[in-house]
Amino acid sequence: MRSKVSVIGAGFVGSTLAQRLAERDYADVVMFDIVPDMPQGKALDILEAGPVLGYDSLVIGTNDYADTANSDIVVITSGFPRKPGMSRDDLVKKNQEIVAQVTEQVVKHSPNCIIIVVTNPLDAMAQVALKVSGFPRERVIGMAGVLDTARFRTFIAQEVGASVRDVQAYVLGGHGDTMVPLARMCTVAGIPISQLMPADRIEQIVQRTRDGGAEIVKLLKTGSAYFAPSASVLQMVDSILLDKKMIMPCAVSLQGEYGFNDIFVGVPAQLGAKGIEKVIEIELTPEERNALEKSADAVKELIQVMGL
Ligand code: APR
Repeated sequence: MRSKVSVIGAGFVGSTLAQRLAERDYADVVMFDIVPDMPQGKALDILEAGPVLGYDSLVIGTNDYADTANSDIVVITSGFPRKPGMSRDDLVKKNQEIVAQVTEQVVKHSPNCIIIVVTNPLDAMAQVALKVSGFPRERVIGMAGVLDTARFRTFIAQEVGASVRDVQAYVLGGHGDTMVPLARMCTVAGIPISQLMPADRIEQIVQRTRDGGAEIVKLLKTGSAYFAPSASVLQMVDSILLDKKMIMPCAVSLQGEYGFNDIFVGVPAQLGAKGIEKVIEIELTPEERNALEKSADAVKELIQVMGL
């Protein structure tokens, strides 16, 4: 039997992810949205590409959570973008409401699933999903680090004229201005980037990575990134469904690791069939440690706004 992945929210990220998943041909895909007919239309469109591209994944669009029943993985992308006049705190509360309501329904129909949260502000929304689901932390994972790292790797590869495949990097911390790109551990084919480019260029690339989401928003004018975010979720789904045990930066509810407790922080984690199978603790320099603490403080502030 094929695995089943449900995607909640059939907007830009959700529908692009559904397409990528269908093309993988290893799972049936259900796309849920509150907008009537829209997910059905998008799902049918993706399904009809199957004969051309050669996949047999079933793709279903729905407005009924019953269709998501017994999913192996549920990806939550539903949420509202920030509207003019809306404060960051207003947005947090609005999306908290949505993610809480969605999680409740998801858990009701797929009590054994693994949840991947994509809705922003990411770390705070992952906290909402963990709390409402009552799942162990192994089964509620936030997608941020893979995306931030992909951006970092893109810029490094461009700078040195290397293949992106040769660039290894880590971005830790929260998904926002305070994220912590670990330039010290970034290598191109095993060579530390400090040997390949001057320190000031590295600092510029680190800053561009931190502003990566905003750079896209500015260019798009309406909406935010979705091609790289959906690709990043796909890599996490790959590692879980295929039990690949890949290590990648994910937002994880820490239980003592890195000295944090019950707060989502982006750290390297091993993903396999059970979800988060291991949290990897990297030895940090005092500066990196400091930056990670600042990043966690920013997440804590949002948690307070939400009253969690
Ligand atoms: N239940 C299900 N779906 C909902 C709900 C809800 N309660 N509320 C809103 N949605 C749906 C909307 O109808 C919309 O189709 O969520 C979808 C969001 O899609 P987009 O607005 O296109 O946003 P997108 O670009 O996909 O981003 C989704 O991912 O990267 C983050 O910051 C981004 O939080 C945002 C999320």
